[in-house]
Formats: sequence, structure tokens, C-alpha cells
Amino acid sequence: MSTVPVIAIDGPSGSGKGTLARLLAVHLGWNLLDSGALYRLLALAGSRVGADPHDEAAHAALAGTMNIRFSGDASGEEQIWLGSVEVSREIRTERAGEGASRVAAMPSVRAALMERQRRFAQEPGLVADGRDMGTVVFPDARLKVFLTASAAERAKRRYKQLKDKGFDVSLAALSQELAERDQRDANRAVSPLKPAVDAELIDNTGMSIEQVVQAVLDLAKTRKLC
Ligand code: C5P
Repeated sequence: MSTVPVIAIDGPSGSGKGTLARLLAVHLGWNLLDSGALYRLLALAGSRVGADPHDEAAHAALAGTMNIRFSGDASGEEQIWLGSVEVSREIRTERAGEGASRVAAMPSVRAALMERQRRFAQEPGLVADGRDMGTVVFPDARLKVFLTASAAERAKRRYKQLKDKGFDVSLAALSQELAERDQRDANRAVSPLKPAVDAELIDNTGMSIEQVVQAVLDLAKTRKLC
């Protein structure tokens, strides 16, 4: 197992993991893995080649071969490419999230993406954001955080995030979709969403993002990660 330090951030949709992971990576000068984006990209890659959405073998094959690229800057403007097409916006829709959650329940897809995810662990360190970072992909992570927030707050945050990106969404429909996605993520047979036994649980309902970042940096300091 690699000796590169990893901070694993797991939790349900809309808990604020993505923002937290990005700010931590910028603060520490570490690499970032947005593992949800890999599942979103895979679902999109499948639909691009006309794969049956339930065809596990086709998606597992694509998971190993799809040509993806992440670039971005500290301001948080992400750029994600599938082949030669920039898909940063397309993969953020709730429809893409739903597709991601479907392919993410396929065991051979998860196995195929494992190595790809581990390759992100490069010096000087990695902040990894997902559902199974601390439990499965990086079981030796030096710090594991399981981030939650109330269902109402998570739906509101996701609503604001999508509105800010210019998407036309309804809060009621979004709450329903998030609940269904969480249900599927928590109940699937492989790598279900659950805290690692050694994870630090943070319920960030009512906390500002700055407070959450500080709380995690304090934990990182006690483990001599910064
Ligand atoms: O985090 P994000 O909302 O982008 O993730 C989209 C979907 O990808 C999740 O609902 C989940 O089904 C799946 N996922 C996963 N394991 C991860 C990251 C995401 O199963 N490590």
C-alpha cells in the first residue's frame, strides 16, 4: 500500500463533501479525487456509446478504457473531459447523478474503477471525496471523515448549487431524488454508503463551510498531516 497520505471524505449526497474536499486540497496543496465524477462520467460514457443502462459487462469494460481528464483551478472552476468533449456541466445534473448511482451498484464496475482511483494517490497527498473512500478504496487513509447534514439541509444545498449553475430544478423533486439515491447507495450489496469504523463523524447542519474546513484541519493537525 502506498505511503502517500490520504484524507478520505465520505458521506451522502449534498452533505458538502465536494466543497470541503476541494478547499482542503487547495489549502494543503494536495491532489483531489472526486470519485463521484468517475461514476457520473461512466454513466455518460455508457449512454454515449448506446450501452444498455443495465449492461454491467459493457460498463465495466468502459470503466477501464474511458478517456477522462480533470483540470481546474483553485477558484473551483472545474473542467472535466470525456474524450475530446468538455462535460463538466453535463455530469452535474441530477439525471447524471441517478445514472451514476445505477452503475455504481455494479460490482465489476466498482472493481474496474478501484485501480484508477488509487492512482490519484500521488505526493504530497490526496484528498479523496466519495462514498467508500475510507471503507474500501483507501482503507489506510490517515484521516477519515464521514460528513452528514440533515436531509432538508442537504436538499437545500444541492438546490442552490444547481440553481447557481443555471439549472432549472424544483426543491421538492430534488429532495425526492436525493432520498432515492441515498437509499440505493446505502443499501447496495457492494461498498454501501456507511462510515468506516475509524471515521470521524461530523454533522455539519448549521455550520459554515469555513467552520467545517477548520474542524477537519484541526483533526489533520492532530495527526501531523499539516
Ligand atoms: O458524489 P456524487 O453525487 O457525484 O456521486 C454520484 C453517485 O456516484 C452517488 O450517488 C453514488 O451512487 C456513486 N458513488 C459511489 N462511490 C463513490 C462516489 C460516488 O458509489 N465513491
